[in-house]
Amino acid sequence: MIRNALTHPKRLPLIAPSILSADFANMEAECRGVLETADGAGRADLLHLDVMDGHFVPNLTMGPDMCRALRRVLPGVFLDVHLMVTDPGLFVGPFVDAGADHLTFHAEPFAAGNGAWRTEEVVRLAERIREQGISAGLAINPPTAMDGVLELIEAGRFEMVLVMSVNPGRSGQSFIENTLAKTRLISEVLEPTQRLEMDGGIGEGNAGAVAEAGCDVLVASSAIFGRARSERGGVIRRLRGA
Ligand code: DX5
Ligand code: ZN
Repeated sequence: MIRNALTHPKRLPLIAPSILSADFANMEAECRGVLETADGAGRADLLHLDVMDGHFVPNLTMGPDMCRALRRVLPGVFLDVHLMVTDPGLFVGPFVDAGADHLTFHAEPFAAGNGAWRTEEVVRLAERIREQGISAGLAINPPTAMDGVLELIEAGRFEMVLVMSVNPGRSGQSFIENTLAKTRLISEVLEPTQRLEMDGGIGEGNAGAVAEAGCDVLVASSAIFGRARSERGGVIRRLRGA
């Protein structure tokens, strides 16, 4: 197991602001704001980078250069990269080179039909990521049935599993309630060093239910960056349930 901020967290749940709804024209200040301005429970634990390729999802967001730029100005921050791309294998090298600490890729491009998965390819990709010295995650979309997913998670020995609670594509969408049933199932099979992340539509009104369903890494974008900078520490504190 890779030893990092996910596998050996200082506290749980971890709050992971997704920079997708941050002001792209002021990205350094936006990130410093959530990482440095507030103290204690109001401080974010890591940054979540949403990478979309215009193919797996109909949007284009950011690539390795954003990761590299953040790594340069924030050398100590944990960078959690969420690859919403059709061919994640293409991006392992570029993101490792750009200073990512963790790469999560989606299961869906590896679907083999009738609820089966191309397990060998998933396992190999997770190993390739880990061989680069960073941790690996597996993500599943809201419509993806749980058939074989627990076996896939077990086979890949992921440091993190990500359950999407919106259909990926953009921030600011409504939380899909029935995805909590998946997190309950998955949380039962994970070991203490494995994290369960939820992403999409999380805010102060539902963070408690998300944590209750077994998630210990909460991603939030519009709930944090949609607020004034001075209010963001308070939001993070409340998302944490503190
Ligand atoms: C969804 C992305 C999320 C998104 C979350 O496609 O993977 O990380 O930015 O945004 P909110 O928290 O606004 O739903
Ligand atoms: Zn994400």
